[in-house]
Amino acid sequence: MSPAIVPTLSDLPSPQGTYDRDDWAGAFRNVEVELENEPLVAARGEIPPDLNGCLYRNGPGRLERAGRFVHHPFDGDGMICALRFSEGGALFTNRFVRTEGWMAEEAADQVLYRGVFGTQKPGGPLANAFDLRLKNIANTHVVRLGGDLLALWEASSPHALDPVTLETRGLTLLDGVLKPGEAFSAHPRFDPGHQGEPRMVTFGVKTGPRSTLRLMEFATEGPKAGQLVADRSDSFKGFAFLHDFAITPNWAVFLQNAVDFNPLPFVLGQKGAAQCLSSKAGGQAQFWLVPRDGGAFAGQQPRLIDAPEGFVFHHLNAYEEGDQLVVESIFYADFPSVGPDVDFRSIDFELIPEGLLERCRIDLTTGNLSCERLSERCCEFAMVNPTRQGLPARYGWMAVAERDQGNDPLQAIKKLDLQTGERRVWSAAPRGFVSEPIMVPRPGSTSEDEGWVLTVIWNGARNGSDLVILNASTMAEQAVIELPVAMPYGLHGSW
Ligand code: FE2
Repeated sequence: MSPAIVPTLSDLPSPQGTYDRDDWAGAFRNVEVELENEPLVAARGEIPPDLNGCLYRNGPGRLERAGRFVHHPFDGDGMICALRFSEGGALFTNRFVRTEGWMAEEAADQVLYRGVFGTQKPGGPLANAFDLRLKNIANTHVVRLGGDLLALWEASSPHALDPVTLETRGLTLLDGVLKPGEAFSAHPRFDPGHQGEPRMVTFGVKTGPRSTLRLMEFATEGPKAGQLVADRSDSFKGFAFLHDFAITPNWAVFLQNAVDFNPLPFVLGQKGAAQCLSSKAGGQAQFWLVPRDGGAFAGQQPRLIDAPEGFVFHHLNAYEEGDQLVVESIFYADFPSVGPDVDFRSIDFELIPEGLLERCRIDLTTGNLSCERLSERCCEFAMVNPTRQGLPARYGWMAVAERDQGNDPLQAIKKLDLQTGERRVWSAAPRGFVSEPIMVPRPGSTSEDEGWVLTVIWNGARNGSDLVILNASTMAEQAVIELPVAMPYGLHGSW
């Protein structure tokens, strides 16, 4: 039993200062073991017997080597977890992705590569200057495509893994779709079948003074599963910074943030490449609307629409309503970055802008834009029921801070009614910290919120990771499973 997590089901405002920094920072550690098919039991509640399938999670599993911590957890080496559920039982498997960089550093027990988010090799700027190699750390997302599980990292090619054992098969170019080293987003969107068949829609960006955006669509079912079925490339002015996107039946929707990229401190060994991004003074963010092949506007040029101020990493969803395109995204007031002299474990959350969910309505006839805030509560990692991807959705599930306003670590999972604003919250506070929630519809369900929400939390009381299963409709806790591996906060995952 874990006495530490006190779940609350509350719509009431939360008190300020609900967490202990040491509890939060306890998750920044190395994973030292790899387990295979370790049986799991619920410490509280019961695993729903009709929850059958596999939850894959990706995230940094190694944050320190030879006494040197990464500068930012996003520089940690990718480790995949598989939690396989069947008839009320569950098995746990975890494995590091055998990337070239991870294997070389394991063998040397030394930091041999710089990280995009500011991790440097030992020896100061002199030892880092002009080392412009990218260490593909495969740590951002994990998805199934055809016969492979793909560990994704947006600046380079995916790693293919065995979906059952998680063994690394190697870097993949997806049967010749990609050129060696070609960027391949870590944010594919799964179209449930708006164009007659389910597809994985994704993109890659080649940045420069002009940037090229490649939009790719892959079949995900039937004999063509894994094959490329649509492919287009468009060129845009300026340095593109695109982490995520959204889809509708007819459009792929990008938000190009107004950022500048000055690579000099990276080249000179003073900063990581991502630390060279900054707000572009007087810059104008833009929506880039790319017509999908097979849709009503196929073959047409992309449409560019001025976007509101602020920075967006993640979108919740997008959909079409008549002549309007609606995009729901998490906006930050400024570009959040960990500077070269800051230890991420001592970050002052008060000084970093929080993510806020907003809905932007683009009139495709006039180009007019109107936006509204959907919630004042700091949030990240939002999703709708996967069958509503690209369609109007009634509900969103997201990780939120415990208190109603201001920036704090994510400690609760919120279900938001996107029409009425009504919310239901399950909280892991004061000693628990949540990661991305994954909404899993109940097979054969008829209502949009019927199913479960799965999230891995960091339990500060027992210095361990727990999997929490919630009822997606009521947000009541169904089960808490203490995982046999204590792991850092993860990034993205899939069911
Ligand atoms: Fe992301």
